[in-house]
Amino acid sequence: MTIEWYPGHMGKAHQQISELIRTVHVIIEVLDARLPVSSSNHLLEELRGNKPCIKVMNKNDLADPAVTKAWVRAFEKQAGIRALPLSAKQHREVNQLNRLCLRLAPTRGKPGRPLRAMVVGIPNVGKSTLINTLAGKSMAKVGDKPAITNCTQQIDLRNGIILSDTPGLLWPDMSDQVVAYRLATSGAIGAGALDYTKVGLFAVEFMMQRYREPLRSRYKFADDSDSATAVLEQIGRRLGCLVAGGGIDLHRASEAFLRELRAGKLGRVSFEEPELDAGAAAGAGERQGNQPM
Ligand code: G4P
Repeated sequence: MTIEWYPGHMGKAHQQISELIRTVHVIIEVLDARLPVSSSNHLLEELRGNKPCIKVMNKNDLADPAVTKAWVRAFEKQAGIRALPLSAKQHREVNQLNRLCLRLAPTRGKPGRPLRAMVVGIPNVGKSTLINTLAGKSMAKVGDKPAITNCTQQIDLRNGIILSDTPGLLWPDMSDQVVAYRLATSGAIGAGALDYTKVGLFAVEFMMQRYREPLRSRYKFADDSDSATAVLEQIGRRLGCLVAGGGIDLHRASEAFLRELRAGKLGRVSFEEPELDAGAAAGAGERQGNQPM
């Protein structure tokens, strides 16, 4: 099964991101803490040079804490990279980002010497939520900067930091089907672009491999079930996704299961771990075909 979803902005994005990077002191890359590889884009890594970069691992409230800790350790082995897990809705957690920016560019953030940071990330990782929390009531749009890109907006946080927001600049690397399935499982790809049943089966199989106990205890499926279809059927039965005659509506069962998974009803779950998936961060261009989960 192929999920077709190629936005086709990549060439233009390359130029825009490289121009923007030259004008900033710190890059704030927003990732989904549950899938920091699939929610990244190799373009940024290629273009970053030695500019300091904070990998904001957002939606940390939904991610497995032990796995997030392992990701922070893995990311911070890379030169110039700091990783900050947070939930963009939490002011207290988000405020750490201001302090970290100023630490990474200690000569900036002073009157007449603003610290310029760009916020970048694929759709749905929480960039707008983060910016709204950072800016709070003091949010001030300081207008487009057409020399860089007609979709860049600058926001003066009035604390010495000016953010460049880059909506629509970065997209996920969808050439790898595992990446596409993980993004679909997390909810980053809209319903129109995917086959719910296949994504549901992918998610069930993943949970059977890595989080079997939370899955079993929520849906109380027979412990000897080894087939994702059999487990999804049992989940569908539990959630009342039946068709006339008593069969299971697998499409509705998948929708309901994915809704529960994304809402954290099965606990905090991470879809990628450094030991298994960090190699994939080296570049989606090098990733080919399906990989074992
Ligand atoms: P974007 O600008 O990168 O495209 O993302 P945006 O801020 O619009 O956030 C996408 C979705 O992720 C929103 O949910 C938002 O509430 C949710 N979100 C952002 N940060 C966090 C977080 O730290 N934790 C959790 N659990 N969710 C987060 P939505 O369902 O699209 O909208 P709504 O729930 O705000 O109505």
